[in-house]
Amino acid sequence: MNQVEKIQKTFALTTPLYYVNDLPHVGSAYTTMAADVVARFYRLLGRPVLLITGTDEHGQKIQRTAESKGESPQNFCDQMSAGFASLWELLDIKYDRFIRTTDTRHHGLVKEFFQRVWDKGDIYLGQQKGWYCVSCEEFKEERELLEGHRCPIHTNKETEWRDEENYFFRLSKYQDQLEALYQDIPDFIQPESRRNEVLNFVRQGLQDFSISRVNVDWGFPVPSDPQHTLYVWFDALLGYVTALLEPDAQPTLENALAKWWPINLHLIGKDILRFHVVYWPAMLMSADLPLPEKVFGHGFLTKDGQKMGKSLGNTLDPVALVQRYGADAVRYYFLKEIEFGKDGDFNEIRFINVLNADLANDLGNLLNRTLNMVKKYCGGNMPQVVSEEISVEHPLKAIGLGLGENVKQAYEALAFNQACEKTLLLVQASNKFIDDQAPWSLYKQGQQQQVEQVLYAVLESVRLAAYLLSPIIPNISGDIYQQLGFEINFNEQLQTSTVAPFCVHSTWGLLTAQQQLNKPRPVFKRIEPPENP
Ligand code: MSP
Repeated sequence: MNQVEKIQKTFALTTPLYYVNDLPHVGSAYTTMAADVVARFYRLLGRPVLLITGTDEHGQKIQRTAESKGESPQNFCDQMSAGFASLWELLDIKYDRFIRTTDTRHHGLVKEFFQRVWDKGDIYLGQQKGWYCVSCEEFKEERELLEGHRCPIHTNKETEWRDEENYFFRLSKYQDQLEALYQDIPDFIQPESRRNEVLNFVRQGLQDFSISRVNVDWGFPVPSDPQHTLYVWFDALLGYVTALLEPDAQPTLENALAKWWPINLHLIGKDILRFHVVYWPAMLMSADLPLPEKVFGHGFLTKDGQKMGKSLGNTLDPVALVQRYGADAVRYYFLKEIEFGKDGDFNEIRFINVLNADLANDLGNLLNRTLNMVKKYCGGNMPQVVSEEISVEHPLKAIGLGLGENVKQAYEALAFNQACEKTLLLVQASNKFIDDQAPWSLYKQGQQQQVEQVLYAVLESVRLAAYLLSPIIPNISGDIYQQLGFEINFNEQLQTSTVAPFCVHSTWGLLTAQQQLNKPRPVFKRIEPPENP
């Protein structure tokens, strides 16, 4: 691959398409924030990126919820779907496509896909008997159920017995091909622990799964037999394909798959892994389509150590959280504090402590006090230093030189906590450096050149840290960049790859003596703990 091709290789990624039976909760926000960070990072690298999100609007769960509220399903979906879009706006999520599975263009695509699988002989009529969890929209094995036939995920809900005629997809036919896929592409399922769970499940032998329902109106009719409604998951997964259509393109598979297929990364929570790494690739194999590159199943969030749920009354409203603390704070906490892939907890006191320590004290204060010293000791002008002349053994340059590459690897591995921690090490080292060097004393001793060297090294380190954290805290990073004299807004994504490309900005030593600095002002205000948390 030559350099031009490499730079232009597309990167398409997805969040799950969220059910609209309710407004978004913090779990949905978590995946979407992570996806946005990945998208922003690849844009900095100069890759053409397509970030897909959207809402999954069909099925019995939504039909029932709309009925219980006395609303038509479509009206209800319109309101809920808008709630998702507005939360993404509050959280500064820069998605490229928002697909709603009730979109008429989606219908056309689903019909075409169904026909392909039908022509392959992979769909047949059979009898489905089993326990169905409407909240999961999934049949459960008897052995998975809790006492009273309750669902292990929705523990307060009983599953419902079904004995009906359904159309089935021949999943069992793809057993060997799926096993070969997991073998040949070991990182198809990530993280490793999830991969092992799936391998165990598949080894037990795959059974065909039903892809139609009777007595559910809210969905697309099965093309070959309109008495049946297509199973919501069969329709929803194909939303990822419809989302790829250019806005004015005819809804055909050929058009949808032309530019961005195959998807590079599906980001999902661990509970829907089976759909994405077993059912979905098998459906694509049946339709003779290339498979996605990678599926990453992250962990679950708890609150104060307890499973979040309406029945426990401890759900965390993401809108209230962002309104109270701002988008960057929320994004930073979840991505820095929780190892992506593992379960993680939200606790308000911890939340406040982390933000105060990292963003207000370590990062914000460092910039502020350094710019104030520049004002006092250098007349507000950029310290007159040539970065190339600073020794590679300089304590900050030594860290800064390799940092860009290290942080890049962390982002590529979706190790967001490590990207933050590695960057914070430079920030902490800078705070220590300034205390050790005491430029205020050097100034008093008339050592102007040394003062300027110290201040330069710190400003440059703050700049680098801000740049490397910009996918996570775009507003704070933009603010730091602005004070350092750059006209770069990290929320204007289309520009960032050309205005602030990674290959230039991720290297220590970018600031020059000609840089025009702006007035210092705090980038993150300390949060006072609430009186009654
Ligand atoms: N509609 C399906 C996805 C179809 S994709 C073609 C769906 N929707 S969902 O709204 O129920 O769930 C969306 C995502 O939220 C899932 O990835 C799920 O793992 C995630 N979460 C739900 N509760 C969560 C937590 N408490 N913590 C973290 N993520 C959680 O499934």
